[in-house]
Amino acid sequence: MKSLIVENLHVSVDDKEILRGVNLEIKENEVVALLGPNGHGKSTLLAAIMGNPRYRVTEGKILLNDEDVLKMSVDERAKHGLFLGMQYPSEVPGVVNADFLKSAINSRREKPIGIYEFYRQLEAASKKMNISMSMASRFLNEGFSGGEKKRNEILQMLLLKPDFAMLDEIDSGLDVDALNCVSDAINDLKKESVISFLVVSHYARLYQLIKPTRVAIMVNGKIALEGGPEIISRIDKDGYEWLKYEKGIEIQKEDQVAMRSTSIGSCAVKEAIKK
Ligand SMILES: Nc1ncnc2c1ncn2[C@@H]1O[C@H](COP(=O)(O)OP(=O)(O)OP(=O)(O)O)[C@@H](O)[C@H]1O
Ligand SMILES: [Mg+2]
Repeated sequence: MKSLIVENLHVSVDDKEILRGVNLEIKENEVVALLGPNGHGKSTLLAAIMGNPRYRVTEGKILLNDEDVLKMSVDERAKHGLFLGMQYPSEVPGVVNADFLKSAINSRREKPIGIYEFYRQLEAASKKMNISMSMASRFLNEGFSGGEKKRNEILQMLLLKPDFAMLDEIDSGLDVDALNCVSDAINDLKKESVISFLVVSHYARLYQLIKPTRVAIMVNGKIALEGGPEIISRIDKDGYEWLKYEKGIEIQKEDQVAMRSTSIGSCAVKEAIKK
């Protein structure tokens, strides 16, 4: 059985520790919803699993079907079936969308895909995502609207057919029709193949459409709570404060510390101006 296991993962960015011992296991055919307050490390976890070099793993393990992911390059991770649909897809001028998609597909195949077969698959996926075929000949994400970028991420997922798909706020910026397209694409992949998802979203609407099997809450760089889909309705209704009163989970607000020193600083400046 396929599995993705994250064990005691510590990750730093620019020497600041963001993840402080994440434990999470995702099994075959599971859809795990990852929620948590802003800035608590959700995107950092996904970026670290995918191998973004800015995110330095200082301790812990990531295992994909018992293989050590931390020893793999980003390409190898993709080859092994990991996929990340990004919160902020980058614009890559000079790289044609269709060429990018074709090389991504080929990186997972022994023999390169034939041109006719590629266009057949591209046309089917574009139709499903309601994306015009003309976007395939544009530079990757360049000038794409927010919603087009997100739909293009899902188009990549449809073509790559990953084993483990991580989707980071794939619903933000989508209109209602596009949200339905995205959730239909996720649900169809679930039906057609053996695939697991780790899905980050702040909104119950996407989760109502894709029906997660499990929910994990990230607070202060750790998975603070795991449970069933009922946690999503609670967060949707009450936010995160109840975690403190009912579960004893304190939500650190590091930016408040920063803001306090700023305001002391600005008071001092005001005093100096008065003098
Ligand atoms: N490349 C980076 N450089 C500096 N700080 C970073 C970087 N990436 C993440 N951080 C910091 O790490 C913390 C966690 O960020 P992350 O993006 O993982 O949060 P998140 O849980 O995904 O939040 P959101 O819900 O707002 O997307 C934040 O304080 C963020 O500013
Ligand atoms: Mg994020």
